[in-house]
Amino acid sequence: MKIAIAGKGGVGKTFVSATLSRLLARDGYEVLAVDADPNLNLGYSLGIGYDEANSITPLSDNNELVKEKTGVAPEEALGNMFNMNPRVNDIVDRFAVNAPDDVKLLVMGTVKGGGSGCMCGANALLRVLLQHMLIQRGEVLIMDMVAGLEHLGRGTARRMDAMLVVIEPRMKSVDTVRRILRMADEIEVETVLAVGNKVLRPKDEAFVREKMAELGVPVISIIPYDQIVADADMEGVPVIDYNEDAPAVQAVKDLEQYLVNRYKP
Ligand SMILES: Nc1ncnc2c1ncn2[C@@H]1O[C@H](COP(=O)(O)OP(=O)(O)OP(=O)(O)O)[C@@H](O)[C@H]1O
Ligand SMILES: [Mg+2]
Repeated sequence: MKIAIAGKGGVGKTFVSATLSRLLARDGYEVLAVDADPNLNLGYSLGIGYDEANSITPLSDNNELVKEKTGVAPEEALGNMFNMNPRVNDIVDRFAVNAPDDVKLLVMGTVKGGGSGCMCGANALLRVLLQHMLIQRGEVLIMDMVAGLEHLGRGTARRMDAMLVVIEPRMKSVDTVRRILRMADEIEVETVLAVGNKVLRPKDEAFVREKMAELGVPVISIIPYDQIVADADMEGVPVIDYNEDAPAVQAVKDLEQYLVNRYKP
């Protein structure tokens, strides 16, 4: 089961990614959670302590690794030849850290865009690494990412089982889904599914369902707005550890069951 989780900033991607990862791990699946968001807070949400989470260098910023793998340090890359096809099968074992419930976390970082030539080694490394994780590794993969899909080339994206877009009942998050759909189409992501989050009233749910129906995106989960999620955040504890019975956690459990039934990992 290889799932990417995308959506507008602040909609709840990291909450969904972390909770889903923990639940799948509790059900006995080997889970590799990948933080591909530049905000890098998946580790913290999974329950790795704040200091430890902050001490992890994302692979994209690990210049030594980029040099080791591609033969060229980022600062020398401009105009130099570099290995576009580095060997990456040792990276997960070397760099993934353990999170509660035996979830493995890989802080990948994000591809820097904007045509900065000096980033091409790091970009090549992440691209090949993603391909490796999608095609050669057996774990369930849960990837917390930004709205952009710049990591995924065609061919790589096709190996993903689904991209979940998290949306709030707000027009701006619907616009983001539109953008994601265009990108998904370009890189040939086959399945895009919507998860409505922070749903408070029947009117909110109706909005989510109506807008997604217009875009042809199936809504597979509705997660309520849940004060317990905010309480857990203030306590600095993953929601699932703070109160497993929280309605939002229960909704993610249903989502997990749906994904397990559909993809039979
Ligand atoms: N169902 C919910 N009920 C109440 N609060 C929620 C819910 N889901 C998420 N939140 C809160 O919304 C905020 C954003 O959540 P989260 O960090 O998971 O979003 P994100 O999409 O990963 O954001 P970013 O784009 O900044 O990475 C957090 O403060 C979180 O506690
Ligand atoms: Mg996030």
